[in-house]
Amino acid sequence: MNYNNILIETADNIAVLTINRPDQLNALNSETIVELSSAFKSLEADISVKAIIITGSGTKAFVAGADIKEFYQFDVAQGKELAAKGHQTLFNLVQNLTTPVIAAVNGFALGGGLELAMSCHFRLASDNAKLGLPEVTLGVIPGYGGTQRLAQLVGKGRAMEMIMTAKMITAEEACSYGLVNQITTQEELLGTCQKIALKIVKNSSVAIAGAIRAVNAGYIDGVNGFETEIEEFGKCFGTEDFKEGTTAFIEKRKANFN
Ligand code: COA
Repeated sequence: MNYNNILIETADNIAVLTINRPDQLNALNSETIVELSSAFKSLEADISVKAIIITGSGTKAFVAGADIKEFYQFDVAQGKELAAKGHQTLFNLVQNLTTPVIAAVNGFALGGGLELAMSCHFRLASDNAKLGLPEVTLGVIPGYGGTQRLAQLVGKGRAMEMIMTAKMITAEEACSYGLVNQITTQEELLGTCQKIALKIVKNSSVAIAGAIRAVNAGYIDGVNGFETEIEEFGKCFGTEDFKEGTTAFIEKRKANFN
C-alpha cells in the first residue's frame, strides 16, 4: 500500500511510524486511520520488526484528535459507524498487536490522539506534551475507546474529571497519573524510546507476544486473565525461544533469539 499520511523507517528491528500531517496537527482523518491499520498489520507480519514506535510529525503535536472537519456533518448512524469502524480498524488492532508498540507523545495528544496513544502498550512524552479528551467541548464523547482505556490507566475518578472538564494535562501530570511512563525533552524523546525498544528486541518476541495477550486478557469482560496467563505460560514451553533462553542460562551465555 502507498501511504499519503504516514512514514515508516525501520532499523535495528525497530520500526518508527510517523503520522505525517503536521499542518493539520496530525489529525486522524479516515485515510490516515486506514493507512495506520494497514501499516500496523504489515509490521506485525514482518518477523524482522520486533518493536514499533509511533509518533507525530513536527514539534507541535502527536495527534490533535480525530479530524473534526470530516465528521462535523455526520448523523447518528454515521457517528456510530465512525466509532465502530475506528475501534475495529485501528484502536483494538493496536492494543492487541503482538509486536510491542510504544507511543512517543511529542506534543498535543488530544481526543483520538490520546486514544491512539492509550491503545499502544505504553507511552513516553516530551516535556511540552499536553494530553486530554476534549470531546465534550464539541458536544460528543470520546469514541475511539477513550472512556474505557483512560479509566483503566488513570482510574475512574481522574478519567471522569478529565472527560467532564475537557482539560489538557501536562506531561508531568500525565506521568504522575501513570498515563505516561517517562518524560524527556522533545529532542531526546525518540532516542529514549529507541533505547527502551532496543532492550525489548533483545528478548524473546514469542514470549513478549504471549505476555501481551495475557495482560490484555485481564481487560476483556468474561475472560479470566489468570487462566490466559496459565495457557500462555504453558505454550512457551513448546517454543524454540524457551529452549534457547533456558539453555543459554545453563551454559552461562547470553540468549540469542531469532
Ligand atoms: N481535526 C481537524 N483539524 C484539526 C484538528 C482536528 N482535531 N486539530 C487541529 N486541526 C487543524 C486546525 O483546523 C488548523 O487547520 P487550518 O490551518 O487548516 O485551519 C491546523 O490544524 C492548526 O491548528 P490550530 O487550531 O490553528 O492550532 P493552535 O495551535 O491554535 O491550537 C489546538 C492547537 C490543538 C489547541 C487546536 O488545534 C484544537 O483545539 N484542536 C482540536 C482538538 C480537539 O478537539 N480534538 C478532539 C477531536 S474529537
